[in-house]
Amino acid sequence: MPSPSTKDPTRLPIAVLGTGTMGAPIARNLLAAGFEVSVWNRTAERAAPLAADGARLASSPAEAAEGVDVVLTMLTDGDAVEDAMTGREGALAPLQPGSAWIQMATIGDEWTERLVTLATEHGLAFVDAPVSGSDGPARDGELVVLASGPDETRARLQPIFDAIGRKTLWLGPAGNGTRLKLVLNDWLASLTEGVAETIALTEALGLDPHLFIEAIDDGPLGSPYAVAKARAALAGEFVPGFALRLAFKDVGLALDAARERDLELPITEAIARRWQQAIADGHADEDVSAVIAVASQRAAA
Ligand SMILES: NC(=O)c1ccc[n+]([C@@H]2O[C@H](COP(=O)([O-])OP(=O)(O)OC[C@H]3O[C@@H](n4cnc5c(N)ncnc54)[C@H](OP(=O)(O)O)[C@@H]3O)[C@@H](O)[C@H]2O)c1
Repeated sequence: MPSPSTKDPTRLPIAVLGTGTMGAPIARNLLAAGFEVSVWNRTAERAAPLAADGARLASSPAEAAEGVDVVLTMLTDGDAVEDAMTGREGALAPLQPGSAWIQMATIGDEWTERLVTLATEHGLAFVDAPVSGSDGPARDGELVVLASGPDETRARLQPIFDAIGRKTLWLGPAGNGTRLKLVLNDWLASLTEGVAETIALTEALGLDPHLFIEAIDDGPLGSPYAVAKARAALAGEFVPGFALRLAFKDVGLALDAARERDLELPITEAIARRWQQAIADGHADEDVSAVIAVASQRAAA
């Protein structure tokens, strides 16, 4: 293991835990930017291709975290993140006090608070840094990083965020990144389900749904996200960039956070019910745009 004095301070060794849709391209972009990267994934075959890019493959989170200064978690939810850090062969044990933990998965308010406490107990600098952008932006290094955490981590972590994103918003104390992520995904849910309902209406009125897209595409009503999802759904393309099961998880996290603050989110409540049904009908692992096709089919039935 190199001593701290021999390390390039702008390229700290980093462990990426979770090489799914988002974690794999993030690790790849870090490698391309010259970072020393170790990777761990529960299903080892999903991490294996990263060896060709120069990653050190680890068979446990602890092995991945051996000798690194930064650990980055990009797993499904709070349970998975906690388990990777504290479970048998978890990453916490080998991390030296003063190391940084970048928590990038979307895990919600409550989990983030729990993990801040866990990190503090172990002398780690916890940076809550969920990202906006799906598989394409992750591949292209074009994510928006919603970073929040101790100010003194900014200088050493910025090169990491620059390697994976086009923009970093530093948002103050840990927790604010997650809160803004909940806001963005609540907006994403409304946009997606809005497109679903509007396409169902277009069809019920006897019009070609492509006309709706054409009408909004280059005007103020057309968000590029909504237009892209509508086009994908009409083309029957549901390969998951952002799986419906994850979008449903995030709708639940937004509802939990709102309830905690005595705020009603009636649109989000309705979306949660519809998406729960779509998941029960077998669409969990499809892209979230599958709900657009589901709405059309329901309307036609
Ligand atoms: N996809 C997007 O557009 C997007 C954008 C921004 C943020 N996010 C968020 O980023 C996170 C990852 O998303 P993703 O799209 O990369 O998901 P994904 O492709 O489903 O990958 C999930 C990762 O978590 C691992 N995992 C799940 N449960 C686990 C457990 N109990 N123990 C250990 N590992 C576990 C999976 O391991 P296996 O391979 O073994 O299953 C995989 O590495 C989620 O919180 C998601 O909401 C996603």
